[in-house]
Formats: sequence, C-alpha cells, structure tokens
Amino acid sequence: MADAEIGVLGLGVMGRNLALNIADRGIRVSGYERDPDLRKVAQREAALSSANEDLAGFVASLRAPRAVLLMITAGPAVDQAIETLLPLLSPGDVIADGGNSDYQDTARREARVREAGIGYLGLGVSGGEEGARHGPALMAGGSAETYQRLETILLAIAAKADDGAACAERLGNAAAVGHFVKMMHNGIEYADMQLIAEIYDLLARGQGLGAAAIAEIFDAWRDGPLSSFLIDVTATVLRKADPETGRPLVDLVLDSAGQKGTGRWASIAALELGVAAPSIAEAVSARVVSSLTGERSAAAARFSRPDASANSVTKEQLADALLAGKICAYAQGFAVLAAASEANGWELALDRVARNWRAGCIIRAGFLDDVAAAFSDNPEIANLLMAPAFSEMMERTVPALRAVVTAAVGAGIPVPALSASLAYFDGYVSARLPANLIQAQRDFFGAHQFKRVDRAGDFHEDWSTTS
Ligand code: 6PG
Repeated sequence: MADAEIGVLGLGVMGRNLALNIADRGIRVSGYERDPDLRKVAQREAALSSANEDLAGFVASLRAPRAVLLMITAGPAVDQAIETLLPLLSPGDVIADGGNSDYQDTARREARVREAGIGYLGLGVSGGEEGARHGPALMAGGSAETYQRLETILLAIAAKADDGAACAERLGNAAAVGHFVKMMHNGIEYADMQLIAEIYDLLARGQGLGAAAIAEIFDAWRDGPLSSFLIDVTATVLRKADPETGRPLVDLVLDSAGQKGTGRWASIAALELGVAAPSIAEAVSARVVSSLTGERSAAAARFSRPDASANSVTKEQLADALLAGKICAYAQGFAVLAAASEANGWELALDRVARNWRAGCIIRAGFLDDVAAAFSDNPEIANLLMAPAFSEMMERTVPALRAVVTAAVGAGIPVPALSASLAYFDGYVSARLPANLIQAQRDFFGAHQFKRVDRAGDFHEDWSTTS
C-alpha cells in the first residue's frame, strides 16, 4: 500500500535509527536495504511500514509525491542509488541525501536530478547513532519547495535546543550548502577532538596522571565555558575499565586514529577558498602521524627525547588553553563558511548555523549560544575573534594557551592543534608580519612585484645591488 510518508533507503546503523526516530513521531516510514542481514535487523528493530528488498516495491510503498531519504555510504553508491531510483520516481518527488557526501558531488547530483523534475536536498546529519535515534542536528540545503516537502518530518525528528528550537534548518538554496556546512562541522569536530587529546596528553604524559584522575578534571569542565558533548564523552571514556584486565580501557586502545575524509575535505576547501584553518588542518595531520605506528616506534628508538614532564602548568591554565584553542578553531571554521558563502552566493546566515549546532550534533557546546549571538549582533564581523565577547575570552585565556604551548614544546609533547591555534591568533593580531620579506624574495626571483608602505603602485627592483 502506498501510504508511507517517507522512505529510508539504506538501513545500516544511521538509516535504521533515523527510521525508528521517524516512526516514533507517528510518521509512516518505509525502508529499503539490499543486505539481507541488515534488512532482518531493521525489520526486527524498526517500526517500518515495510522493509523492502526490491526497490520497485519500496518506491511503490511511498505515498505520492514521494520522498526518499538516502542513508548510504557517501561516494559512488549515492550515484548508483540515484540512477536506479530515477526511472521509478516521478516529477514532484524528492530525494534527500543524509550521508556525509562531498558537497561538490551534491551540487552535481542536484543538477542531474532536477533534469527529471525531482527535488534534491543535501542533508547533513550529525549526532551518530544516538543522535539519529533520538534527535540529530540536521543541516539542509535545497530549494524552499523541496525542503517544505520534508520540513515537518525533519523538525519532528531533530534535536531540540534548550530554548525548544529544533536543530533542523534550511541553510541555503543549493543542496551543496547542507553538505558543506556538515563538512565544516566535521572539520571543527576534528580540531576540537585533537585539542582535547593534546590536553589529555599533557595531563597523562606531562603530569603523570592516570585515566581516572584525568576523568575527574574533565568532569569539572563539564559545566562552564568548556561544557560540551565532547568534554562529556572524554570524561566518560576515561572512566571505562577493561572488563578483562581491569585497567582503564583507553590505555589499551591503539594510538592510531582513523578518518573517513570529511576533516581532510574541510582543510582542502579552506585552502581552495584561501582561508587559513590551521587548527583543523593540524588535526587532520595529527591523525595521519598517529597512524604511522610502526614508523613512530622505530623513530622513538632512534631519537633521544627531552624529559616529558610539563608540571609547571595548572589545571586552570589547561582549561583556558583548551578554550582559547577551541575559539580559534571555531573562528577558522566560520571564516571558511563565510568565504564559501561569498564565493558561491549562498547567503549563509552564520548565526543560524551556530544555532543549528547547539544540540544533537557532535560539536554541540554551551558556547555556541555565544557564537550565534556574536553573528546575530554583527553578521558582517570579519572574524569571530573580533566579536566583543570572544575578544574578551581570548584576552583572558591566551596567556594560558601561551604557557601551555611553551611547556609542551619544552617537554617534547606534540601539541599541533594548540600551537596552530596560538600561531593563528598571534598572526591575526599582528599589525605587521614578515610577509614583506616574502614579497621581496618573490620579486627577486620571479619579478612578482611588490607594494610599498610609503607610496601607491606596484614596484619591481634589482635586488642584487645594495642600493
Ligand atoms: C557526526 C560525525 C559523523 C562521523 C564522521 C567523522 O557529526 O555525527 O561527524 O558524521 O563521526 O564520519 O568520522 P571520521 O572521524 O571517521 O572521519
């Protein structure tokens, strides 16, 4: 019977949990899954009106005009799904892609699907399994008409912020906007996680504290300016004991971080747009270095190291350093969003992005209210660091960031994200940088010309003579 209001194509962890979330709101939802095992799990767990094994049956189960939510692994599988779906759909139907798709693919797919008179929504979904089940943050991009078709469902299943607002928004007219915003969310997520990991390292290696003692410190940071999902996660993870050995499980986890690519894409996008996002890029590189476990062991045996103690910094300084580093990472992420919006004519409202991230998503944090307020007060602000509330926070916390980076450098403990944040800040607040010398070098070897501080125009000089 064609009565499902929405069909979820792909019933893996995220798809199945979103389907359950949708069904919980009294919305009839149908599912499609190729893999028989996953289909069985979905049939058992999900209150689906049907969990189909054939695509035609799935499409037939949907009420017209139909809405299909793709919850499949980003990449070629999305193109394949679209190509198989298109002949079965009719003009007026809509497809939403809820995966972590590359925003450029999304732009291409929107154009492709539009040829068939079908609407396309790029839908960033954040919050992992738990979020999908009980309330994710949903970052949508697409035409108003396409979004309206799904709006009631998206508002119903999304996380709700403390003020009751649903974290589901149409952030732009182009489908790509939804996935671009999700990609930058993930870039900030990478930086936030790396900053926390560096503070953990300074407490563990630098101060010799065990996981339980570090958990207590993170616990104390759960309230206050650092309050966030990732701080909660950290405190909780540090408390978990290995059932077999009784040791903190985190101590037994291999120190090699994986990645699926969204952090890397965020860094590439920043570079392409000409925006500095070093805290994000360093977080990506730190994962890469972490993955070189064999090489690192060999190098550790080859080189002598300074005494790794970093006892000179206090917990309060570490908290402030973390906050300062985090503000810089957010400043970078929002600067990339602003530049992408400008370059593509997206008219992205940064305060709405910040509001969307207040609940449900991985980077949800108390201070996103302040970020939203900063961009509401002044949508044209050049950089988050210049918003009065953040300038004040930075002025208060940068001395601690400097002390912590200094201690880490002395102890030989790598803090790439903290030090990239500090360098970003120091560069941004320097009225004069050594780029004068770079311009002179460029002009010397490439006749690239330079500007002068004392008169207008472009100049070229024969630098080989002293005057
Ligand atoms: C989220 C997460 C989620 C996932 C990413 C990042 O917002 O719910 O960002 O999308 O964690 O895939 O994963 P990697 O760390 O593997 O790149």
